[in-house]
Amino acid sequence: MRDTTPQPIHLADYQPPPFLVENVALTFRLAPTATRVISEIRFRPNPDATPGHDLRLDGEGLKLISAHLNGAEITARPDQSGLTIPAQDLPEGTFDWQAEVEISPDGNTALEGLYMSRGMYCTQCEAEGFRKITFYPDRPDVMAPFRVRIESDLPVLLSNGNPASLGQGWAEWHDPHPKPAYLFALVAGDLVAASDQFTTMEGRDVALNIWVRKGDEDKTAYAMDALKRSMVWDEQVYGRAYDLDVFNIVAVDDFNMGAMENKGLNIFNSRYVLASPQTATDSDYASIERIIAHEYFHNWTGNRITCRDWFQLSLKEGLTVYRDQQFMGDMRSHSVKRIEDVLTLRARQFREDDGPLAHPVRPESYVEINNFYTATVYEKGAELIRMLQLLVGQDRYKAALDLYFARHDGQACTIEDWIAVFEEAAGRDLSQFKRWYGQAGTPRVDVSEDWQDGSYTLTLRQHTPDTPGQPLKEPLVIPVAMGLLGADGAEMVPTTVLELDSPEQSFTFPDLPARPVASLLRGFSAPVVLNHSLSPEDRALMLAHDTDPFNRFEAGRALARDILHAMVLEGATPGPDYLNALRTMVSDEALDPAFRALALHIPGQDDLASSLYAAGHVPDPDAIQAARTTALRLIAEALRPQLQDVANAMQTPGPYSPDARDAGRRALKVQAVSLLARADEGAKAAELFARADNMTEQLGAWGALLAIGIGQEEGAQFYRQWAQDRLVVDKWFSAQVMYAAPKAAAGLVQQLTQHPDFEWKNPNRFRSVIGALGANPAGFHATDGAGYKLVADWLIRLDGVNPQSAARLSTLFETWRRYDEARQALIRGELERIMSQDNLSRDMGEMVGRMLG
Ligand code: BES
Ligand code: ZN
Repeated sequence: MRDTTPQPIHLADYQPPPFLVENVALTFRLAPTATRVISEIRFRPNPDATPGHDLRLDGEGLKLISAHLNGAEITARPDQSGLTIPAQDLPEGTFDWQAEVEISPDGNTALEGLYMSRGMYCTQCEAEGFRKITFYPDRPDVMAPFRVRIESDLPVLLSNGNPASLGQGWAEWHDPHPKPAYLFALVAGDLVAASDQFTTMEGRDVALNIWVRKGDEDKTAYAMDALKRSMVWDEQVYGRAYDLDVFNIVAVDDFNMGAMENKGLNIFNSRYVLASPQTATDSDYASIERIIAHEYFHNWTGNRITCRDWFQLSLKEGLTVYRDQQFMGDMRSHSVKRIEDVLTLRARQFREDDGPLAHPVRPESYVEINNFYTATVYEKGAELIRMLQLLVGQDRYKAALDLYFARHDGQACTIEDWIAVFEEAAGRDLSQFKRWYGQAGTPRVDVSEDWQDGSYTLTLRQHTPDTPGQPLKEPLVIPVAMGLLGADGAEMVPTTVLELDSPEQSFTFPDLPARPVASLLRGFSAPVVLNHSLSPEDRALMLAHDTDPFNRFEAGRALARDILHAMVLEGATPGPDYLNALRTMVSDEALDPAFRALALHIPGQDDLASSLYAAGHVPDPDAIQAARTTALRLIAEALRPQLQDVANAMQTPGPYSPDARDAGRRALKVQAVSLLARADEGAKAAELFARADNMTEQLGAWGALLAIGIGQEEGAQFYRQWAQDRLVVDKWFSAQVMYAAPKAAAGLVQQLTQHPDFEWKNPNRFRSVIGALGANPAGFHATDGAGYKLVADWLIRLDGVNPQSAARLSTLFETWRRYDEARQALIRGELERIMSQDNLSRDMGEMVGRMLG
């Protein structure tokens, strides 16, 4: 048991900081086990706070060497979480604090604060890592300009802002833009840069560098290209230009998250920077493009305008996700991007919202803030902004954003500030809309319809289920974009946006020539579950004719879901309607190949488990897995000639390009070959594997073989070919786990953890072996409980070295209450075993505690 139960922090308890920071100077004398950090901080009492406070500085795991106030040495006694200088010892007005501390980057396995990754020094300070570097008011509403001096023999020494001066064994950096400590960064290493240049619309010349290890220089071109396109896009679409003389990106191998937006010095997990056609898949390229853009966009939405406190996290993350989604739509295809985003929203956020970890986009309390970088804060947060844009319209959205930037540049803001600019720009009261930020749970919208005398009436009812700690829900403003289709597929009523703002509302469409088919929630206009029962014929009509590409996809998806439910529950088989509709769709050359590839994917195991659960059933992972296998085989047999034609037709002549067109063609080819494998014993997949000259096809073909229980030889060949490439070895591990036969999965993971390449302290590697079980639900949920035990054992072990990563992966268990009693008992046992560990981290304690309820 944890000896001290950590206390939650509450939004309602927010107090402004008693002291502000005018400027900071930091000196780092780097040494692996004994780095010295000297801080010189000028404090000033905050005119907006009550006077007479003690000075409280955050600090964790710091060895204090000396402290001075206005130049005079003082004795200060740090406690577990920082130190306090009593008010009576503080000089009047402005004063200077100086401290020297010692830290050990080499021993820092949590990868938060200053740590080492294969010989290079790097930092990760969001959310509360700066306090592991020196004593400081480590909160986002304290913003200051930083000067940094780094002393080290390593050749490349980087920090935020602009380079100030440089000598043998040292470098100085100056960041003139006031920033919170969470945006501080430092990197030192033997690195090489891929360099380029950008001139902003304001005429500023910016040096662009992507810093990598020697040997990786040839894998930076795509990231650089994505960076330049992001810079142009933010100027053209949001009117935002970059504001320093350099923009540095560094790739590191050991990183908890994807990437971090430190001012002028973004630090990236190397998997989101490095790419070559032979080693990266098309979806890796898309992730790189997206994350480069996301972190760059934070320069305005996050850095120039930051969060007042961490409850406001979605202010920067939801907005920046929305911006990266818009960017990706502009770069590639809006409709395909929307489908992909909704699939992830449902797979991750709806899953979270329907279980014990449900929380509002703006939570009211937390124990460990690292646990709140969630799908709800990110993805649902982005959906709220998409709804705002739909409700107020494009022009007013633009006006609201202009007002936001003009009014709040340089400030630490709240969701209230954000809503206020929309209220002003749109001249509209948004207090009901604001409930979306405070109310957890995915709203259900139930549809009923009436057709009489040429008049169609649509009745919508909304209801949000209970979530932990929030039993009473109020009605939300739900924009429902809809249109009406005729029996011939022609549009009778084009897209209009209905605003559902009460528990129940009816909308009547008079004078129609015939009974329409309603296409509701076009473009997935709100993050809700829509319960609209349509006949298979109506769904087939929408799949063939809806003018809204999202709803075309959705119609096919709903058909597949209903069939799979019937297969699981009643042992039914897919009827000819569905197969005919799929056949027409696959061969329809008017449709984007990327769209066809997506529409050929049937719902995944976890998706089916959640929809079955929502329909009142206890999902059986084995039955779901079996139904999917049967459905895939029947589809493959029924569509065999079309799949073969499409696989042959989707050539991509010329040199490899990761652009949307070629990636879409490869996606359709790989999807067709994967389905065919279930009808031709993997013949075509083996052939594709043998001649693949890019990772998308090589990995796709190998996966197709693994999925039908073969591909051992190809796996050995894959490993021999790529043993020297860490990022590809991650793929080698995870593919085996994902496709392992359910009964063998835990044993395989166990065996892979004995592999010499299983470096469990590296987050990417840990995730690619242990985390990959999450992509194999039938394997994870094997009835002997071996999957549960294995995951719990490893979470306990990882928690001791890297609590943040361990706590994130504990969400493998978040859906546990969906399952049967036997499985629930096994999982409960493992969760309780985790909970009973000595020295359990605050991160893990909070997650497991919430899951146990
Ligand atoms: N600010 C975050 C990185 C971060 C997350 C730091 C959690 C500390 C704790 C960054 O902007 C981010 O959101 N990164 C995402 C990727 C992004 C494209 C959604 C990530 O790292 O997963
Ligand atoms: Zn972000």
